[in-house]
Amino acid sequence: MRKYRVPVPPAPKNKYTITIQNTGEVFEVDPTKVPYGRHGIPGSILDTISTSNADLIDHACGGVQACCTCHVVVEKGFDTCNEISDREDDYLDETPGLTLKSRLSCACVPDGSEDIVIRIPGWNRNEVKE
Ligand code: FES
Repeated sequence: MRKYRVPVPPAPKNKYTITIQNTGEVFEVDPTKVPYGRHGIPGSILDTISTSNADLIDHACGGVQACCTCHVVVEKGFDTCNEISDREDDYLDETPGLTLKSRLSCACVPDGSEDIVIRIPGWNRNEVKE
């Protein structure tokens, strides 16, 4: 079994918003409240969103980068996000509908330098929970 070293990026320094393209929902990120302490790396997209809406993004492994159900596409602000680790990269390789802007939301930590827009791929949106 491969061992990974997963770096924890710094939390965002500025307030910013995460907009869900599919639903129009907007989540405000306040750096003074990070980590929100729900799921994923502190300050990650999943950490932020699951605090307000735990069911919006599936997260079968609980946010420990061991599945790919939290896949999102960062449509705007991709370059403000932390670097993809080897572990995340390996799981992204298994992800259906992979794009050049795909990330695991439990591992993706924007730096807060601009507002971001994400899209949740249709295959992993839980329509029953929405
Ligand atoms: S919740 Fe499993 S990889 Fe993100």
